[in-house]
Amino acid sequence: MRIIVTKSYDAMSMTAAKIIAGQIYLKPNSTLGLATGSTPLLMYKKLIDIHKSIGLDFSAVTSFNLDEYIGISPENPESYHYFMYNNFFKYINIMPKNIYIPDGMAADINKECHDYDQLIKNNGGIDLQVLGIGKNAHIGFNEPDIKFETTTHKVKLDDETIEANSRFFADAKQVPRYAISMGIKTIMFAKKIILLANGKNKAEAVFKAVTGKISPAAPASILQLHQDVIVIVDKEAGAMLPHVEN
Ligand code: GLP
Repeated sequence: MRIIVTKSYDAMSMTAAKIIAGQIYLKPNSTLGLATGSTPLLMYKKLIDIHKSIGLDFSAVTSFNLDEYIGISPENPESYHYFMYNNFFKYINIMPKNIYIPDGMAADINKECHDYDQLIKNNGGIDLQVLGIGKNAHIGFNEPDIKFETTTHKVKLDDETIEANSRFFADAKQVPRYAISMGIKTIMFAKKIILLANGKNKAEAVFKAVTGKISPAAPASILQLHQDVIVIVDKEAGAMLPHVEN
């Protein structure tokens, strides 16, 4: 694991954007794993800027999003489909046919999960996966559990996650209770992973992810077993970390 503690959210976002831009520059037909949430928002803006300023070309890029709520349509402003189109995809030249996000409206959710993993495999796997982290150390929507869920699956969201995500909805009652999430193994199969976190409310989760016991009680801790992870945090989110690279 490599740990980069940046001085600000802006610097965290720029560091992450440069890694993604470098990946696409070197391999124009990269497959990216993408995340939603407030953490990567500025990273997406930086990538849009790089696309506009130096013509970073997304035309051969494929993307797979980590997760989606079950039961809300892509047109719903709280859906992750809507988030991705409106914060990123509509500003770059990625081809719509190369964009994959789990379908939370699928009639057969189990089939959707199975097919999603298959699609990732058929595309040759994920070259670079972007992750945020929940306050409870979840990645994607892999909530603390007694075992690691391996493949893409249906998740019952934790009360803490519903509470945290209620800020985007009119009230907590409207937050979907279920979601589809890439599994831990789906994520771990990515060739390279960057985990982003900012703000002091993520400090404990980052600490657990980087230095804690590897346990499904803190899903992000599994990343300690991956051979190519870069944890990029701002000072606040990195406040509990020993300031060494490991
Ligand atoms: C959400 C998403 C995660 C995200 C996390 C943190 O529930 N499913 O992929 O990383 O929570 O979100 P935020 O960046 O808004 O703090």
